[in-house]
Amino acid sequence: MTDIHNHILFAIDDGAHDIDTSVEMCREAYENGYKAVVVTPHFANYNHIDEFVNERDYKISELQKALQVEEIPLTILRGAELFLSDALMKSGNIDDLTINNSRYMLCEFPLGPFNIKRGLMWIDELIERGYTPILAHPERYYEIHRNLHIIDELLDRDVVFQVNIDSLTGKNGSTAQQLSIDMICRGFAQLIGTDAHDLKYRHTRIKEKIKELPYEIDHDIFVKCVKINSQKVIDDEEI
Ligand SMILES: [Fe+2]
Repeated sequence: MTDIHNHILFAIDDGAHDIDTSVEMCREAYENGYKAVVVTPHFANYNHIDEFVNERDYKISELQKALQVEEIPLTILRGAELFLSDALMKSGNIDDLTINNSRYMLCEFPLGPFNIKRGLMWIDELIERGYTPILAHPERYYEIHRNLHIIDELLDRDVVFQVNIDSLTGKNGSTAQQLSIDMICRGFAQLIGTDAHDLKYRHTRIKEKIKELPYEIDHDIFVKCVKINSQKVIDDEEI
């Protein structure tokens, strides 16, 4: 399995606070069946892309060294979670923020209210620049709950959807749970991520979460979303 969305990388966003936490999250990911994780720290400051990329890459190399010492053979790949905004339109080159140098870009909408037309414009901008947006946790957005037609609009635009495993198990409320199940079962959403932030609540112990999955998410669907499709993303293949 490959986790396509998490905040395992230390001291760069609201995820792991220090390198020891990162290492433990990696250990648990590996012990729970992950062979690789794409680290996707939050990124919103488009005036300082280079600083962010340098810090991320330095911390990845530090984490890789620590994993070697601890003999945890988990592969760490580069990524980011882009907060979509008007600033993105004015930004410079964001190629270094793709997932593993592929066409795929993990991005998120504001969780609260936002202008839908503008949201679709941000997505169109990414596509025009040659990226394939992966929208993180579509089931969690207030605006999507209020305007389900946005999902059709996004599907017309060749957007990939990634749902959070915590939404499928009901931890993000019943609306997010039902929407995430529907999107997976209809084939709209193709990826399931941990969006792990820590060791306690949003963690990488996926075996515990699998036990809580609703019956609709059967073994074949699960494998497709956490293994087959995530492999295609990191190999830069079409899903
Ligand atoms: Fe995230």
